[in-house]
Amino acid sequence: MSPWRAFGARSARILLVAFALFVGAPAWAAPSLLSATASTRERAQLPEPVRAWLYNEQVLLSRSVDTERIYAVTENLQKKELAPEAARVFKLKTYWVDAEKLDSFEARSIEPAIRELFVRKRAGRTEVRLVVHPESESFYASVTRDATPGDDLHASATASSRTVLAWKPGDAAHPFFAKLSLNAQIGGVVRTIPKGEVARSVGVTKILDGEKKLPGSFTYLPEVFGVMPKGFERGGMIVRQIPASILSGEKRYVPLFSLYADPPDGSPTMIEDMIKKSGESPDTFVRTRIIRPMVEQWLDLLSHHGITTEPHGQNVLVEVGKDGLPTGTFLHRDFGGFNVDFDARQKLGLGPDKSQLPTLGDFDKEWHTTKSEDTKENLETYFGGGVLFNLDKRFARPARGRAEPAGPGRFETMMDEELRARATEVTGKKRFAGLVQAMTATQRHAIETRAAEKPAAAPRKPLASPPARPAPRVAPATGGRR
Ligand SMILES: Nc1ncnc2c1ncn2[C@@H]1O[C@H](COP(=O)(O)OP(=O)(O)O)[C@@H](O)[C@H]1O
Ligand SMILES: [Mg+2]
Repeated sequence: MSPWRAFGARSARILLVAFALFVGAPAWAAPSLLSATASTRERAQLPEPVRAWLYNEQVLLSRSVDTERIYAVTENLQKKELAPEAARVFKLKTYWVDAEKLDSFEARSIEPAIRELFVRKRAGRTEVRLVVHPESESFYASVTRDATPGDDLHASATASSRTVLAWKPGDAAHPFFAKLSLNAQIGGVVRTIPKGEVARSVGVTKILDGEKKLPGSFTYLPEVFGVMPKGFERGGMIVRQIPASILSGEKRYVPLFSLYADPPDGSPTMIEDMIKKSGESPDTFVRTRIIRPMVEQWLDLLSHHGITTEPHGQNVLVEVGKDGLPTGTFLHRDFGGFNVDFDARQKLGLGPDKSQLPTLGDFDKEWHTTKSEDTKENLETYFGGGVLFNLDKRFARPARGRAEPAGPGRFETMMDEELRARATEVTGKKRFAGLVQAMTATQRHAIETRAAEKPAAAPRKPLASPPARPAPRVAPATGGRR
């Protein structure tokens, strides 16, 4: 018997599995995947501040949310090796598609280098680069069939798997974020990007870029380029630019979820370290450095700009100063969750007019203009249910043997107190009292439902753009608009 046969197929399989566990998923598990060694080598080329950001997205990642208010985001049916937790680098195929076959939108703030990467002229025709997530190659087959293959990009997933950090191989000094259509289900929703979100996201950038007197504590990652293949209801792509101040390390931001994520080595969470460093009590720290600036910003954006955000643990990052403590400034990403109240903005004398903003034809549907009332709950739902819920769990656990009290936790109650205290001060307007009432009604609702026998009956919100409605009966607009 040959030594190989004696060794046996079973032993060979065990060895193979052991090898796979040792080096991570084998490259053949997904053809686009770089080997573990190549992944490490590629990541090492990224600027240090970007590597630190990616570490937070992939290692200090907490998916915990209050499932009574937000749909659980723990379930991830995509390929494991492409998920953020795998921390792998993979290749993204790209295709140059004739601009006539797509609708594309760009903000004026797009940097020339990013524009060059996505738009080119060939034989007198404009072509747009479509970036395809490895799990969406068959989804896009009808678009890519006649397109010219472009060079691959390198990428690694952020906490929101479909949003990847991407860079041109050999040019890791200039990475950007690409929010790609991911044809796999995460948290109960297929993560392809709906049509309406593409124009709106670039449009929100346009509004914010031109807005005066935004709260000093508010900053954002601009969504400078968006693409939507014609004839598709879902399948958009959005490019988020990373400001130079972040690439250089001058400004540092940490996802809110990383504050309370448990480090794998069992050491204290980032927020526990920060609290210790500040010498403050958890109550003072969380109230004055997290809750108060967020509440002030929320009220200011809503009352002076007619804008609401979706401030959950993944969408918002907090600025960390040179002293290692939060500065009170928040960096927002993901304009899919932003809502703009155009009636309110008109009353405030703010432009731009709807007619100057990008749309694929059905403005009210794409911009959710009828939804603004609901969004008054977003602070309570997303900041409360996504962030404070976790801080409450960590710092306000009842004493051993005591039952969990019904109703909002200590920090959520603080948010309510801060809302009441700041509403008149920040807005200077009586009409704002209505919002505070709405908030407290939501709080009351939360108390009632949590105390009830079946808390799952509470209304929950998905962490995704609303599903696309039936196709609008409008002629698709031509590409290349602002
Ligand atoms: N702590 C978290 N809170 C919310 N979403 C999270 C968190 N951690 C990971 N995620 C992932 O980020 C995505 C958040 O949804 P959403 O903001 O709507 O998506 P996107 O940023 O891709 O537009 C989901 O895919 C979810 O699984
Ligand atoms: Mg998001």
